[in-house]
This record gives sequence, C-alpha cells and structure tokens, in this order.
Amino acid sequence: MTLILGIESSCDETAAAVVADGRQILSNVVASQINLHAKYGGVVPELASREHLRQIVPVVREALELAGLSLNDLDAIAVTRGPGLIGSLLVGVTYGKVLAMSAGKPLIPVNHLEGHVHAVLLEAHLAAREPALPAVCLIVSGGHTVLYDVHAAASDGGRVTQFSYRRIGQTRDDAAGEAYDKVAKLLALGFPGGPVIDQLATGAGKDALAASNAIRFGRVKMKGNPYDFSFSGLKTAVLYYVRAHPELAPEIEARAQALREGRRKVAELLPLCTPQALALLVSFQNAVVDELVSRTLAAAEESTARSILVSGGVAANSQLRRTFESEAGKRGLDVFFPSRALSTDNAAMIAAAAYPRFLAGERASLDLNAEASLPLA
Ligand code: KG4
Ligand code: ZN
Repeated sequence: MTLILGIESSCDETAAAVVADGRQILSNVVASQINLHAKYGGVVPELASREHLRQIVPVVREALELAGLSLNDLDAIAVTRGPGLIGSLLVGVTYGKVLAMSAGKPLIPVNHLEGHVHAVLLEAHLAAREPALPAVCLIVSGGHTVLYDVHAAASDGGRVTQFSYRRIGQTRDDAAGEAYDKVAKLLALGFPGGPVIDQLATGAGKDALAASNAIRFGRVKMKGNPYDFSFSGLKTAVLYYVRAHPELAPEIEARAQALREGRRKVAELLPLCTPQALALLVSFQNAVVDELVSRTLAAAEESTARSILVSGGVAANSQLRRTFESEAGKRGLDVFFPSRALSTDNAAMIAAAAYPRFLAGERASLDLNAEASLPLA
C-alpha cells in the first residue's frame, strides 16, 4: 500500500490528508478561514498566509493522527505547488519540503487544478462508479473556471496510471465563484456567497420569481473560442439592476446590519429578503448555470468525451448538479461530481493526484518553488 500525505494551502483552506493507493482516504483535515475573511467579503491574501502559518503544523499532525500513522510510515509527501495565492502556497510548499527533508521522504509537487480533477475520481471510486475516459472536466471555483479534456495516457490492469490534460476553454474574466461572491457582497448576503445564494435561489427564490417579473439576463455572446466563459458582464448587469432599483437599498442595509451583528445564517437573512431580491438571485443563478452547463455540454458533444466531470467549490451548487444531470443524461453522457466535502479545497485530492506521479517516479528537488500562475496544460 502506498501512503501519501497531501498538503494544500493555495487559497484560504489549510488542509492535510492521508490517502492510500490514490483511492482510499485515511484522513482528510481542512481548517477553513471563512470566518477570518467573512467581514471583508473576500479572501485577504496577507491574512490568509498568516493563518496558514498558524494552522499548518496542527492540521498535518491531526491528519497523521487520524490516519493512525507517523511520518516514518509514509511513502511520500505531496504538496500543492500552484496555482493560487503566492503567500499561501509558500507556507505549504515550505512545510512540505521541511517534512520531506527531515523524514527522508520523496516530495511530489501537485498542480491544484489536477487535484480538483482527482477529487471527482476519488469520489467516483468511493461510489464504485468509475468515469469512462476521455472526459471533459469543468473546474469551477472562486479562483478558476476552466475546461479540460482528460485522457488516459497509460493504464495498468484497467486502472489509469497516467493522465493527460488539454485545456479547451477558460473564463476570460471572473471565475464563476468570484461572481457569486461579488454579487453576495453587493447584496449584503455574506461570504462566501455561493452557498447562501444557492439556498436562497433554490428555496424561497423559486416562488419569488414566479410571483414577480422575472429578470432575464441574456446569454453572453462570445467571439473566438466557444468554450470560453465570461461572468463579469453578468456581475455588472446585477450591479446596474441594483442601481436602477433604489427600492432594494433598505433591505441591503438591513442585511448588512445583520451581518455586522453576526447573523449570517440563511434562515436569518431570508426574512430580510424581498421577493424582488430573491427573483434577482434566481435570475443570476440561472444565468451562471446556463453559461457553465451549455458550454461544457457543447465541448463534450463535439469531442470524443464519454463522461463529464465537474469539480471545485461551485460544483457543490444544487442547481448546477441537477441541470448537469438532466442535460447530460439526455445526451447519453454520464456526469460525475465530488461530494460537497471534496468539491471545495482539500488535501485528499492533492494526495490522490500525486499517486500516479509517484508511480511514474516524479520527485521534486528541495529547490521546488511555489508558482502562483502554474498552468495544468
Ligand atoms: O474550490 P473552493 O473552495 O476554493 C477556490 O479554489 O476558490 O471554492 C470556493 C468558491 C467560492 O467562490 C464559493 O462562493 C463557491 O465556491 N461555492 C459555491 C457553492 N459553495 C461554494 N458556489 C455556488 N453554489 C454553492 N453551493
Ligand atoms: Zn480550488
């Protein structure tokens, strides 16, 4: 059995996990910084790196303890090298190097985006339902919205031992999660915005939309690559709508006050939302989901893809999941998501992504550096 300790610190989650043979999660610890960044309505890079420094040692220790292992038992240490916030990445990379050097273990550098692909594969394995390759993989989070073709580059006994990636599309401006977070900030719904908007839009929002005049945000027309995404126009359209409707100002102020007082739960914010605001959220979410699903399906249909993989924080979105499932089903494509816990940043996906690279003999030297814009392909 190959035991790999994964370390992830690319954004605002300090995470460590132990995964056996790239498939079996023995521990998966995530220390989230959401409360730290919530009052700023977004991740503050300097605060994030400082918090990673505080958390990294206890998080790694806990991951080893939960797995019932010591450093000596490990076969390798895997660490996220990029992309991400440079100060945050450096904490994980430096600590990974220190551990690898002191324990005499190989160090495997992992691309965070490849980690998100493996989050889906980990989950699929847990559910005993492996995706057929090639696949189109949408990675959609607060920092990324990117579409890859995923191929099996080598297999052994039916199991893929090496993957290859080709980028086929990406956002030209904001990431989808960033659009959720910015709209939530504009409407005083707290941070991160995705889960709150998801719940408001799929719950009470549906009735509100039916009861009010639906706001329709048009689909983005894009020249060039049809698999590129865009979300900044939608974000601006929401901003213009709010400016043109000053009747929304009192409820926005009431929610801002609630957030200042620590009332951040959906159940506490919902009574402070008018049907008009809820309808706006439904329209916004419809547009985001349509943009993501339609471009991903088009890419899958025009390629040899046999499955669709969806990963990253926004993959937790309930409407996105439902829409992908029904639309992909109509086209005879299987769609795979990670569980909610594996959708957002975690280190199990990093340890899983490292496994094929470990088998292929990839090792980092101790001059490994973090790379904020590291591409996957
Ligand atoms: O993958 P992740 O944890 O971190 C990044 O690498 O960015 O993703 C966080 C992002 C945030 O923008 C958050 O608002 C969004 O994922 N998110 C969601 C949902 N849950 C998290 N967006 C829409 N619906 C959700 N249920
Ligand atoms: Zn991520």
